[in-house]
Amino acid sequence: MIFDRVKTLDQIMATAEKKSLKRQLGPIQLTLLGVGAIIGTGIFVLTAEAGQKAGPAMLISFVIAAVVCALAALAYSELAAMIPVSGSAYTYTYGVLGELLAWTVGWALVLEYAVAAGAVAVGWSGYMNGLLKSGGFPLPEFLRTGPYDGGTFNLLACGISLVVTALLVIGTSKSAKVNAVLVSIKVLALIAFIYLAMPVVHDENFKPFLPTGWGSPLGGIGVLGAAASIFFAFVGFDAVSTAAEETRNPNRNVPIGLIGSLAVCTVFYLLVGYAAVGSVGSQPMLGADGLALAPGSDALATACAGKDYLVCSKEPLAHVLRLLGFEKMGNMIGLAAALALPSVILMMLFGQTRIFFVMSRDGLLPGFLSKVHPTFNTPHVATMITGVAVSLFAAMFPVGILADISNSGTLFAFVMVALGVLILRRTQPDRRRPFRTPMAWLVCPLAILGCLLLFLNLSIYTLSLFVAWAAIGLVVYFSYGRHHSYLVNGNEPD
Ligand code: ALA
Repeated sequence: MIFDRVKTLDQIMATAEKKSLKRQLGPIQLTLLGVGAIIGTGIFVLTAEAGQKAGPAMLISFVIAAVVCALAALAYSELAAMIPVSGSAYTYTYGVLGELLAWTVGWALVLEYAVAAGAVAVGWSGYMNGLLKSGGFPLPEFLRTGPYDGGTFNLLACGISLVVTALLVIGTSKSAKVNAVLVSIKVLALIAFIYLAMPVVHDENFKPFLPTGWGSPLGGIGVLGAAASIFFAFVGFDAVSTAAEETRNPNRNVPIGLIGSLAVCTVFYLLVGYAAVGSVGSQPMLGADGLALAPGSDALATACAGKDYLVCSKEPLAHVLRLLGFEKMGNMIGLAAALALPSVILMMLFGQTRIFFVMSRDGLLPGFLSKVHPTFNTPHVATMITGVAVSLFAAMFPVGILADISNSGTLFAFVMVALGVLILRRTQPDRRRPFRTPMAWLVCPLAILGCLLLFLNLSIYTLSLFVAWAAIGLVVYFSYGRHHSYLVNGNEPD
């Protein structure tokens, strides 16, 4: 039997008590951590990609992605409050669906967190390169993007990943304080953008509204294709639940952090998207066949050469303001993004290290990954290994591809969480639930369907990578994790 190893929820809580992190985060800090993880490359950079995929109808894509995330957040909140320990979807799945599926979720979360950290680092480098160029100190062309993105080595994306890794090794508390300042900066930047661009919105810029249609499965284009990509802009709220073990009164504060941060971000995104599309337009670049060119393709890069369209920009929000004549404010937005996006990298790396931490604590990954630093009280080994890996793929790949790969892992994890809520309602109806998903039997199935819809609208390329990653994961599990699992060996360290 391979689905027989279910870790009981009481066992999960007991393991967490043995080797635990200090509880030091409150509700406001947690919501800020959520907003810090959510607002980032998605709105600051992928707006251009969404425009290329869906034109002005990307506003519908934002709404679809937000609805799917809201449904998933409601499911997350129930499990996060019920099982307030680190590890998010991985831990919940362990307690409900067993070790094998928990492993596949943990493995998929590597895509969600580590690859997302890389995507944000690349997005950051786009703004930073723009700033250096406008300041008269441009990096040589070959150091601005990676080998799969027209250059040789993305120096800035690699460098920022390493700097953030160092911050995380020093400690959560200090990192969270820095984070609070950076969150304020990016929220102010979005407010400034809305304030300047909203008054010059024109109806004509919304016509045609649906230039690429709704999209088709595995096509990665159209409204649904854009929703599957822009979903990245909402990812991160679940990183709050990975900090459950470091939160005071998690039963109350984790749901506040999750749902509060998601709601704040959704309002901002719709306003920013509407202002960007309405002020300068976002019609996609079409090929000779009349179809929209794929984001990240050479054909699109060629078509965009020398053009100043929104869909061609690597720093779209700054670009829109410059097009509108607000040169200085454009640079200020660029500066804000450059200062603030590292907070997102921080949250994503944080999430990843905690996932490794708990998987190692369960014996599924080697023990050195759950070593806690005696002074800083952080899982420093897991942090350093993750940081170096992230810096390497940030140096190589384009932002859109990394974001889509990350989305595939996230959507898989969300499906498992929503499924877990329903199963636990049946199998453990009397367990204490400080937060209950409202109308769970409607909300959770809808969350599952929504996630599957977005998953299938990623490109065939992204989904092939997801399948390959899952296959590697199974090999690792059956050759290592299955034999070392503390659940079966019963030799969990004290
Ligand atoms: N939601 C985060 C971002 O957009 C991952 O950068």
